Amino acid sequence: MRDYRAADDRYERMQYRRCGASGLMLPAISLGLWHNFGDDTPHAVKRAICRTAFDHGITHFDLANNYGPEPGAAEAAFGEILRTDFAPYRDELVISTKAGYRMWPGPYGEWGSRKYLVSSCDASLKRMGLDYVDIFYSHRFDPDTPLEETMSALDFIVRSGRAHYVGISSYNSARTRQAVAILKDLGTPCVIHQPSYNILNRWVERDGLKDTLLELGIGSIAFTPLAQGMLSTKYLNGIPEGSRASQGKSLDQRMITPRAISSIRALNEVAQRRGQTLAQMAIAWVLRGSGITTALIGASRPEQVIDCAGAVGNLDFTADELAEIDRHASEEDINLWAQSSQESDAP
Ligand SMILES: NC(=O)c1ccc[n+]([C@@H]2O[C@H](COP(=O)([O-])OP(=O)(O)OC[C@H]3O[C@@H](n4cnc5c(N)ncnc54)[C@H](OP(=O)(O)O)[C@@H]3O)[C@@H](O)[C@H]2O)c1
Repeated sequence: MRDYRAADDRYERMQYRRCGASGLMLPAISLGLWHNFGDDTPHAVKRAICRTAFDHGITHFDLANNYGPEPGAAEAAFGEILRTDFAPYRDELVISTKAGYRMWPGPYGEWGSRKYLVSSCDASLKRMGLDYVDIFYSHRFDPDTPLEETMSALDFIVRSGRAHYVGISSYNSARTRQAVAILKDLGTPCVIHQPSYNILNRWVERDGLKDTLLELGIGSIAFTPLAQGMLSTKYLNGIPEGSRASQGKSLDQRMITPRAISSIRALNEVAQRRGQTLAQMAIAWVLRGSGITTALIGASRPEQVIDCAGAVGNLDFTADELAEIDRHASEEDINLWAQSSQESDAP
């Protein structure tokens, strides 16, 4: 017997925003399962995080083939949660997955070939026990595979019923224009782009990607809006036990420099004056203006989801606040995904 019933007021707690010029609405805050959904996290924690998210109106869950550890474990865990808790709500959920990074050995286990993308999509569906995902992404730009091949694989994935929509992740502005044009010709529009973006990592502004997406009417989902947790108060007095930076995974302690800490301390003062936590202000900042559709957070505990969801309580900034944030925020060397977006622009 099921013991989960979603909160009746879930849709009153969240804002929903149109994904570019498409028909798809996304919650202002989405939940990603990159960390804390692998075999090293108790299933009860994963389940509580997902339930809490949906109870707060977070309808969008973002996965990838390789999220773990082991790669594939996050999709398997989410498949279990779909079965035990979310099965009655499938039509209320937007579930995405991706392929691009190494998933299995040999020449067909990563990048952007049709061979890899279609096989990986099938394996993801199997792990999650789904007939289709809502969004399937090319996870990174592949400099050695013709873009036409990667995009036609995405088109095929939609036409064969494996996904409703497609997106691209960490493609720079020039490559995005090319990919979007190819998909348009094929008749499967690119609905969304997934770039890294936060107060301390602004490559989407420098590259022009944010403006390009607005111009092309493509939605965007900004990942790592909290700079993997740096944009919270947790690192102000050292590295707490159990935090992401303590785990030797993707947040290298060397990224938390004295300069970053002094930025974070000053930013926290701005957040306090706004009556928000720093995490809430960092999410609101990503969502300011009209450029970004949804902020894609991660969480290690349900309480973090609740805190982050509270960001929708104040998404507006004064010009003075924005200027103060710019004054305090040094751009840090934390964009681990820069290689994908920096690949040559030469057509
Ligand atoms: N397309 C791509 O290439 C790509 C790459 C990376 C990520 N992503 C997507 O983006 C998602 C989010 O990435 P991310 O997890 O790095 O995002 P993030 O939101 O910047 O960082 C999440 C981490 O911040 C901490 N945190 C969250 N809420 C907090 C709060 N309210 N107060 C204090 N600390 C808080 C937690 O760290 P602790 O563990 O320290 O508690 C949490 O694990 C991923 O799950 C994935 O779906 C995509």
